Amino acid sequence: GEVRILGVSGSLRKESLNSRLLAAVRPLAPEGMTIEVFDGLGDLPLYNGDLDTREGGPAPVQRWREAVRAADGLLIVTPEYNSSIPGVLKNAVDWVSRPMVNAALHGKSVVTMVATPGRGLGRNVLTDLGRVLHDCHAHVVSGPWVVLTEADGKLVDAEDEQGFVPAITDPMTVRIASFQLTAL
Ligand code: FNR
Repeated sequence: GEVRILGVSGSLRKESLNSRLLAAVRPLAPEGMTIEVFDGLGDLPLYNGDLDTREGGPAPVQRWREAVRAADGLLIVTPEYNSSIPGVLKNAVDWVSRPMVNAALHGKSVVTMVATPGRGLGRNVLTDLGRVLHDCHAHVVSGPWVVLTEADGKLVDAEDEQGFVPAITDPMTVRIASFQLTAL
């Protein structure tokens, strides 16, 4: 049947380049795959073992865990902060890495991408995120990676049936992103 992928942006910013890249990648999904965006990372409390009860914890945490559990795979598009993973995203990963037995993240296939306005940056977050996800027993799709540098110039608004959606102007990035999705 249909392959259902959960798309997640590591940025909470309204005009986020990474959220725009995620939106631009959605239509690149191969036949039979849909990418649904989860935008509740900002509602998650900071991880606190006292909140992580046997009853399932706070409602936003339950929603996040159920969404990850129900998905066939994840597409994480995240900024790089100080050469690593933004706290917002690391916190979200921590929540789905527990409980230790049968965590929502266990065995999930994950594609990771980064958008940055910078020129030579962005790779470190994918390296760090890959290592963290691997240690959470997720299956990270390996390279070639989507590292969209100088992203503000490579994401434009394009018109489709629904109105204006972001599109990637760089053909090589489009090819690599499409290729990565087929590995999910
Ligand atoms: C950044 N930025 C950044 N960029 C990068 O490529 N490497 C880095 O290490 C950092 N470090 C960093 C730290 C902090 C705290 C902030 C706020 C920003 C710049 C970052 O890529 C830029 O602000 C992006 O636009 C953030 O992504 P969104 O919100 O546009 O998706």
